[in-house]
Amino acid sequence: MIRGSILKPMAVLATVAAMASGRLPAQPAAPPTRLEVQANRPGPTINRDIFGQFAEHLGSGIYGGIWVGPGSPIPNVRGIRSDVVQALRAIQVPNVRWPGGCFGDNYHWRNGVGPRAQRPATLNPDWGGVIEPNSFGTEEYFDFLGQIGADAFISENVGSGTVQEAADWFEYMTSDKPTTLAKQRAANGHPAPYKVKYLGLGNESWGCGGAMSADHYVEEMKRFARYTRNYNPVQQSGSEAMKKIAVGWDSGNSDYTDAVMKAWKDKVWSWDVDGVSLHGYTIPNSWEKKGPSAGFGEDEYAKGIQATLKMKDWIARQSAIMDKYDPDKKVGLYVDEWGIWTDPDPGTNPGFLKQQNTLRDAIIAALNLNLFMRNADRVRGANIAQMINVLQAMVLTDGPKMVLTSTYHVYRMYVPFHDAALVPVSFDPGTYAYRDSRLPRVDAVAARDSSGRLWLAMVNVDANRPASVAASFAGIDARSATGDLLTAATVDAHNSFDRPGAVAPRPFAGRASGGAIRFDLPPKSVAVVQVR
Ligand code: AHR
Repeated sequence: MIRGSILKPMAVLATVAAMASGRLPAQPAAPPTRLEVQANRPGPTINRDIFGQFAEHLGSGIYGGIWVGPGSPIPNVRGIRSDVVQALRAIQVPNVRWPGGCFGDNYHWRNGVGPRAQRPATLNPDWGGVIEPNSFGTEEYFDFLGQIGADAFISENVGSGTVQEAADWFEYMTSDKPTTLAKQRAANGHPAPYKVKYLGLGNESWGCGGAMSADHYVEEMKRFARYTRNYNPVQQSGSEAMKKIAVGWDSGNSDYTDAVMKAWKDKVWSWDVDGVSLHGYTIPNSWEKKGPSAGFGEDEYAKGIQATLKMKDWIARQSAIMDKYDPDKKVGLYVDEWGIWTDPDPGTNPGFLKQQNTLRDAIIAALNLNLFMRNADRVRGANIAQMINVLQAMVLTDGPKMVLTSTYHVYRMYVPFHDAALVPVSFDPGTYAYRDSRLPRVDAVAARDSSGRLWLAMVNVDANRPASVAASFAGIDARSATGDLLTAATVDAHNSFDRPGAVAPRPFAGRASGGAIRFDLPPKSVAVVQVR
């Protein structure tokens, strides 16, 4: 009696303390999730550009994060830091959207070419009002892309620039004829034309990019789409042709998507677009008070997961509009800004959008990547915001120090899905219940890579209960499944310069029996396995 009466409140207290710290008590497993993988029915190709990145002139996203200058004691190649390049090569970044964001509609490319010592100092009014030295410009961007092996995605200035300025930039970058601008590029160190895979026709023109009505934007967009040409002969037609992405969804209003798609359907020969963008951030609470990036428990975790699940509805709504005008799915949906956006870390410049990156964010990354892959017939690209030191970053730096984030590890684990063929899976996700919210507990995606290997990604969203997944595979006699698992003790676990391995993948395997495979996923975990 006495023993019980003392222990019971102590257990309650321990549970409360554990929940407050984000260290959650283990709970019994939920019933197994039955997962059927139609391994013999490959579907649409998962465009590797779904794993794209976004690097804006914002905080230390470029300066300090990528560019340290050739004279820096931080090891670099032509001013681009080598540790960051090495980290990014490992996740096989397909493309980098640049220079903004809102910054893109303030950017005047001529400030960023030619001898660096002679480049003007300008201002970055959107992000902290700091001085923009223009040391990282067109040549440095393409050098960086070459070092990491990624394609270019240029967001051109529709808001404060002119059509002629944009047209000149593309002539400068892509002309193979000896025009004055192409000769200027050669004098600046690059005689051969650059390749530009994507051209963004403005950024958020409904907001920071000019606050235009949808109809007004469409008229502007047509002129930019008409005159901003790619002169590189290998990019004028066929699979290498540059793709133009128009501004779409404004986080609540589909007017842009509708207006752009209607114009596309009625278009004349002189202009075209290949994609419409969708910007959708995960805001755990409200825009005014988004919530902390670390130092939270299950409450903020569940809110973050709930908020990120809105992406499913956003994609469905935009896809429905696009289907109306384009049932053959010629135009792609490009989620070219997404990710979790929290309050800035205490003590940092609020205009620099610097935030920690936790296990919660890794799970958010996996859920969104799974969603994009599941919609691969329409979603052809996505760019997480942002690659280095800003919002949901891959890498954080501080002077010479660098650490890989939880989200980075998801991107590394998902490399086998680049350009793989989606394989249908069916399962009942079950429920992760937290207070009033009822969230899907398990998520999964499968694909076959170009060598025919079968890959399976699984997420256990439940913060407390392990998930047992019983997978069956139509079309193959599955004998083994091995890969990586990402989890940690707490939902807000994160890597720091002092503890860089707090959230890191570890080997993981399923148990095969009679052609099926059983996986035991710990609470709050992401797994990727190859099934043989
Ligand atoms: O990623 C930060 C900002 O969010 C971008 O500059 C802008 O496009 C969006 O509103």
